[in-house]
Amino acid sequence: MIQTDPGISANSQQYIDKEDAFGAHNYHPLPVVLSKGEGIYLYDVDGKKYFDFLSAYSAVNQGHCHPKIISAMTEQAKTLTLTSRAFYNNLLGECEEYMAGIFGYDKVLLMNSGAEAVESAMKLARKWAYKVKGIAKDEAVIVFARNNFHGRTISVISASNDPDSTEGFGPLMRGIEWVDYNNAGQLEDKLKSNPNICAFIVEPVQGEAGVIVPDEKYLAHVAEICQKHNVLYIADEIQTGMGRTGTLLASDYADPKNEGQKLHKPDVLILGKALSGGTMPVSAVLAGNEVMLTIKPGEHGSTFGGNPLACAVAKKSIEVLLEEKMIENASKMGDLFREGLRKIADKNSLITEVRGRGLLNAIEINSSESSSLGWQICEALRDHGLLAKPTHGNKIRLAPPLIINEEQIKEALHIIDKVMAKFI
Ligand SMILES: Cc1ncc(COP(=O)(O)O)c(C=O)c1O
Repeated sequence: MIQTDPGISANSQQYIDKEDAFGAHNYHPLPVVLSKGEGIYLYDVDGKKYFDFLSAYSAVNQGHCHPKIISAMTEQAKTLTLTSRAFYNNLLGECEEYMAGIFGYDKVLLMNSGAEAVESAMKLARKWAYKVKGIAKDEAVIVFARNNFHGRTISVISASNDPDSTEGFGPLMRGIEWVDYNNAGQLEDKLKSNPNICAFIVEPVQGEAGVIVPDEKYLAHVAEICQKHNVLYIADEIQTGMGRTGTLLASDYADPKNEGQKLHKPDVLILGKALSGGTMPVSAVLAGNEVMLTIKPGEHGSTFGGNPLACAVAKKSIEVLLEEKMIENASKMGDLFREGLRKIADKNSLITEVRGRGLLNAIEINSSESSSLGWQICEALRDHGLLAKPTHGNKIRLAPPLIINEEQIKEALHIIDKVMAKFI
């Protein structure tokens, strides 16, 4: 039995104890046991209601159990769920055509988890390196930004410089180099220094690192530098995409006044999480023909990738995001939320920074990364009806579903204000 939390009922504790007894200990969940979700709210097993300010790490942008997504999912579940890619199905092409049109790419590769999509993008970058760029066999290098988070598989953690992700999992994959995030000059020097570099994979806002928003011009510079050096600019928008930052993609931010033209569009786009509105694992890699068609039949795949259920859910998840103007709402509510957080920070010395874009936000608190203060604040927020989770100890990410309204933002700010005041 793990340590008992006074805020946890005996009823909740039994579920926690069971996970502890029979599950792998690869997570450290905040002690709250959830059994229902609706819109921006979650409910625990005792019926207590909470604001969800994590949105399952931005997978639930459209709100919990969005009725139209659930309806598309359940209808399709009754008809056909999986064929494997051994055969064609009647929904995959339609979903690919829809996504290619919305995001502006020639081709779409549907996968399942985010990490799997990142792996797929890495494989595509390598194929492109050898077949198109002409890099010698097994010499391709992919550059990543320091403090990134792209998932948990061996090749993806090989790109991580967080010891929690890598320690004890070696040997890691070779062919990876790093530059500092938000440093275009360093990227240019790196690309100049090595003709074997085939791709730069970057998060448009670093989510897990604590919502690190780069300078205004960073992504435009990245696109230009990559183009100049014939290197693929690959945007991992698994967390930042699907409206989370107030634009359809966070990389759209590089072309704020030129949305039609997209001069600084990534060569390869990676999506996941909210691509299914939080209902099931659906991820995707989008690219031009020159990149995507380097992989030939039989060279890459997944039993579940592109299954009819995923296709029905992904298309509907994008449709509701657009039709219900969630992206515009994320931008507006994000501005309102940060304004409110800054007012709280002005009178609360514990908050050293408020940052974010759209509804991907974080506060940084005046304590070390190893301190338990962020955790204690999240427990107190939970007790007051708001769920959030610290990332790296002293940063608390605040990212509600994109359907939150003004009144709810104000109510959430009131909770945050009240709770933070207790810790000064
Ligand atoms: C930017 C980014 N890439 C990749 C991933 C991995 O996605 P998954 O957990 O679905 O493998 C995450 C998950 O948090 C992420 O934030």
